Amino acid sequence: MADSVQISSNGKTYSYPVVTGTENERGIDISRLRSDTGMITLDPGYGNTGSCKSAITYIDGDKGILRYRGIPIEEFEREPDFIEVAWMLIFGRLPNSTERERFGNRLTANAHLHESMKHTFEGFPTNAPPMAITSAMINTLGCFHSEFYSLTDEMQLEEVAARLISKIRTIAAFTYRRVNGLPYIYPDDKLRYCANMLHMMFSKPYEQYIADTEIEDALNLIFILHADHEQNCSTSTVRMVGSSKANLFASISAGVCALWGPLHGGANAEVLGMLEKIHDGGLTAEKYIELAKQKDSNVRLMGFGHRVYKHYDPRAKMLQKTCETVLKKLNRQDPLLDIARKLEELALADDYFVSRKLYPNVDFYSGIILRAIGIPINMFTVMFVIGRLPGWIAHWKEQHDDPTAKIARPRQIYTGPVNRHYVPINQR
Ligand code: CMC
Repeated sequence: MADSVQISSNGKTYSYPVVTGTENERGIDISRLRSDTGMITLDPGYGNTGSCKSAITYIDGDKGILRYRGIPIEEFEREPDFIEVAWMLIFGRLPNSTERERFGNRLTANAHLHESMKHTFEGFPTNAPPMAITSAMINTLGCFHSEFYSLTDEMQLEEVAARLISKIRTIAAFTYRRVNGLPYIYPDDKLRYCANMLHMMFSKPYEQYIADTEIEDALNLIFILHADHEQNCSTSTVRMVGSSKANLFASISAGVCALWGPLHGGANAEVLGMLEKIHDGGLTAEKYIELAKQKDSNVRLMGFGHRVYKHYDPRAKMLQKTCETVLKKLNRQDPLLDIARKLEELALADDYFVSRKLYPNVDFYSGIILRAIGIPINMFTVMFVIGRLPGWIAHWKEQHDDPTAKIARPRQIYTGPVNRHYVPINQR
């Protein structure tokens, strides 16, 4: 196969090298294009643009493949351990038992927030969007840890990663307690990662919430399945901000804002809104599908379609199974699950969705599981933040370790007015 590509412009031909990845993905290295030809590429939404080389996550969207550091996502279903996956994503290999234990201990030791941060929570109105609080509190956390603004070695990175991954849970739980006017519940060092999170959200000052193993495992799996997804909008944001050498807290805080959008992390909440609307009798599943097909309706089948997957999202398949397990454990029938199944059945038999390769994505079932666990809709995207955090840290590290990395600074094709003169206000 050609290892270079020729581009002709104004009678001259230029040759550009083809870069091949370990899974034979191929990209044209056009870094000299502008200096050679005076032209740039135009790719709105970056669907054809590789922004970096990365060794963290591999996706083959046509075949529905997702691998973390080479390991198929399905292999994490058996023994879901979010902490192990987090360390592996960040440091590139599975931790040995000493490393796993050390990282776990660091997480336990850092679960508490500085007491002053409670005052910051108090400053938010109780109707503040949880994603706004989460982003702000991550930057606030950075103010208490400015010693980590510039990192010198991997141990320091492990320390700051442990702080972030541990404290994000406490931030999420305190956010929930704040917007619901509930007293804050402190972390319990004896509990594992997900059980501790659920304890801080749902315990009462006089009665501890004890999570069932199935519920703990389901949350662990949700976090693992969200842990990384290569150059998506929020991860690219973290890299973009990090490329200016902004610290990890600031970069992650920006990633949270990107994740907030309904086309990205906000989609799981939108899925639930859609299912509830159908359930409450506003629409039938059939009518919703018809609306989603009409361009001028502004309606989309939420939880369907993906920029990369043109096949069933493997994460959606795993969550569909977990959804059944959780509802069975809780001995609950959720009519929204029946509506989701109906929508899926209708869409997968409809040429509109089939021809556009629109399949269920990770958000289609995650909302039903979160709801069954008792997590309210306005906290869904915050749960996504907890899951995605290790991926963001891994990408920030990868970028900072790359000696060839540059500040991200895309160009544009200018379409505004050409040179004209300023007109004084009394002459306009
Ligand atoms: N419902 C109806 N039509 C759709 C949908 C949908 N959910 N998704 C895409 N289409 C249509 C779209 O109108 C377009 O049709 P046409 O070719 O006739 O103009 C075609 O399919 C291609 O869509 P696109 O918007 O160009 O695709 P994209 O790659 O830019 O968008 C997406 C991907 C995820 C934003 C989009 O599929 C979508 O809006 N889905 C619903 C929101 C959602 O579930 N988001 C979660 C994504 S997974 C979590 C994450 O990784 O963030």
